[in-house]
Amino acid sequence: MKQFHPHAAHTAERVAAALAPHVHGRVLELASGSGQQCCVFAARMPDVTWQPSELDAGALTSIEAYRADSGCANLLPPLALDVRRPWPVDHIDVVLAIRLLHVLAEIQCVFEGARAVGAASVIVIGPIAEMASPAPAMPAHLAAWTVPIRIPTRAEVTAHGFAITHEEALGDDVMLVLGPAARGSGTTSGSRAG
Ligand SMILES: C[S@@+](CC[C@H](N)C(=O)[O-])C[C@H]1O[C@@H](n2cnc3c(N)ncnc32)[C@H](O)[C@@H]1O
Repeated sequence: MKQFHPHAAHTAERVAAALAPHVHGRVLELASGSGQQCCVFAARMPDVTWQPSELDAGALTSIEAYRADSGCANLLPPLALDVRRPWPVDHIDVVLAIRLLHVLAEIQCVFEGARAVGAASVIVIGPIAEMASPAPAMPAHLAAWTVPIRIPTRAEVTAHGFAITHEEALGDDVMLVLGPAARGSGTTSGSRAG
């Protein structure tokens, strides 16, 4: 059954436009949620092979239902993938995680997984704080969440061997494009746009 997430529906086109200059080849989207967004991404970026994935069984069913209706040949069937376990994929060019890191205690798994599949870049979108102290305020659109939410900081995100090559404000969220860190550096700051 198709799930409907108003926030995903509202932001999909804007996120697609922001992503387009930064993705190529084979993209693995972690935690694809309902599947609404990956259909928009695949339609807007027909030269990119889009691999959605999810942990949640209901979400996987929903992604497949949206995919079947999308008519997008570049949108692959969703993979059952828990980012904390070995990822069942071969080579991937770009790993994408939208609104995942703040609901994931083990964010290092995203970066370890990305390295294991040979990804050249990782794109994270979601609430990300400038610094740990003072504690970041909870964005209003996340206040109703019942799972524990822990907003990661830029320093935490870049502590895993990737550096920020581009960042962009996307409404309530921020998009960070991460590439390999220069040797001896884990926290290179990138350009800020928007
Ligand atoms: C806030 S939702 C975001 C969904 C989607 N990316 C979006 O932007 O609409 C977080 C998603 O992360 C998924 N998730 C949580 N823990 C996960 C894990 N360990 N591995 C893969 N997905 C996970 C949940 O099932 C949920 O769909």
